[in-house]
Amino acid sequence: PTTAVNAKSASALDDSLMPRPFRTDFIQAPVLAPSSPDTVDPADGKTVRHYTVVEKAASAQILPKAGLLTPILGYNGIFPGPTIDVYQGTKVELTVINQLPARHALGGHSLDTSTHLHGSASLPQYDGYASDITRPGFQKTYKYPNFQGARTLWYHDHGVHHTALNAYSGLAGQYHMHDANSERLLPRGKYDVALTVSDAMFAANGALGYDDNSQSGLWGDVILVNGRPWPVMRVQKRVYRFRLLNCCISRSLRPRLSTGDPLIMVATDGGLMPAAQSVREYRHAGAERYEFLVDFSKYRTGQRIELQNLSNDNNVDYDFTNKIMAFDVVDDPVDTADPSWNRIPTTLVGSEVMNLQESQATRTRRFRVKRENGTWTIDGVTWADVIASNYRKVAAEVPLGATEIWEFENGSGGWFHPMHIHLVDFKVLSRNGRAPFAYEKGPKDTVYVGENETVRLLVKFGPHQGRYMVHCHNLVHEDHDMMVQFQVGDPGDPDPNDPMTAAPA
Ligand code: C2O
Ligand code: CU
Repeated sequence: PTTAVNAKSASALDDSLMPRPFRTDFIQAPVLAPSSPDTVDPADGKTVRHYTVVEKAASAQILPKAGLLTPILGYNGIFPGPTIDVYQGTKVELTVINQLPARHALGGHSLDTSTHLHGSASLPQYDGYASDITRPGFQKTYKYPNFQGARTLWYHDHGVHHTALNAYSGLAGQYHMHDANSERLLPRGKYDVALTVSDAMFAANGALGYDDNSQSGLWGDVILVNGRPWPVMRVQKRVYRFRLLNCCISRSLRPRLSTGDPLIMVATDGGLMPAAQSVREYRHAGAERYEFLVDFSKYRTGQRIELQNLSNDNNVDYDFTNKIMAFDVVDDPVDTADPSWNRIPTTLVGSEVMNLQESQATRTRRFRVKRENGTWTIDGVTWADVIASNYRKVAAEVPLGATEIWEFENGSGGWFHPMHIHLVDFKVLSRNGRAPFAYEKGPKDTVYVGENETVRLLVKFGPHQGRYMVHCHNLVHEDHDMMVQFQVGDPGDPDPNDPMTAAPA
């Protein structure tokens, strides 16, 4: 077990109303259509695509009883939010209109939001900085450069001190970036499948329940994939690409196939791995993205293959949290003219950070993560300290373009922490001095730091200057108050807390 207390977050639903595995069809979030025609950025001649999403309260049919609806908060009123699908080099301007109610129904806090594109080298004022809020009735346009290689990103709320409840209520969606390599090597179109996995607990009336076990975390008893409990997807006898986002606010997963056949890992948070890695199971913390291929061609028609969860949150498992979803093999004709139908690439593409060597690092910094006086801290510092400094307190001042070794040391037994560094991609060098797991041998932006583990990372800082957050992605820990910031280059002294950057909607 990697949690010391027997933390549970069980539903209060009557047993007859509880969802059960494999009784609902798999669906995916719709791809978001642009809100207006493309324009050209006069500064560099690049195409700019314009999107709009509206944050609003809505309700969703998650539970099996027709008409027993669950109130959610969603981008365009759906969870997960619509998928943004772009090609490398096309810039995106995303206007987020906050039409949320004034206060959160469960938390009572004001629904001021800040949208973060997790995985993007964003400009500071558009990074979803926790205090760069947009109030209900206001809107803000975020600008994403999209110069990075193909990867699975995701956008989610980052409202300071309320990220856990806001994301849990539904403010999260995937963002896919493609490039020539991903298009050439991996399945595309309907064989390129988003899996946003989350967990939830329900109140007796079907609303979401929330119990964070004294600010430790929420481990719900219902597993959702793309907002549906334990769905079943019909698959052809061919190779599929899955982009699995662990969208749970605290729970980590350990996915595996019920057949024992391997998952062919091809990409991590920051995109393609240098070489595909075949793994029977792997550990998948909140906010991490792993992309893997599954070859269904060897199965028989009618066979059901489960995607299971050998959860390592062992003491917070329920009857069905050992399952995620299922695949039912159908014998629809396979288009064998599509070269990806049976292709399992072994060599992929090493991104820039994967080609860096440890000897290129100019310094090493160590950050100790722990719980002190009931608060989660990074080197003894919390986000409250950053606020108290009027956003000037930084945990590290890094020269623009520098390569550094960053170590996260989790000396306190009892908890794991998925540590996320904004802005950058990094390479995992070691865990407690040993080689990283096969499935983490790709570019990352979030790393699982287990109990009594020290994880060593090689990080390249840039290309933007600014102040960026580093925090635990157990969102309950982040909110209480396990987040600090670092500075890249000399960004001057902007006021990141200026809500005037949001315009009235
Ligand atoms: Cu996924 Cu700072 O966030
Ligand atoms: Cu944590």
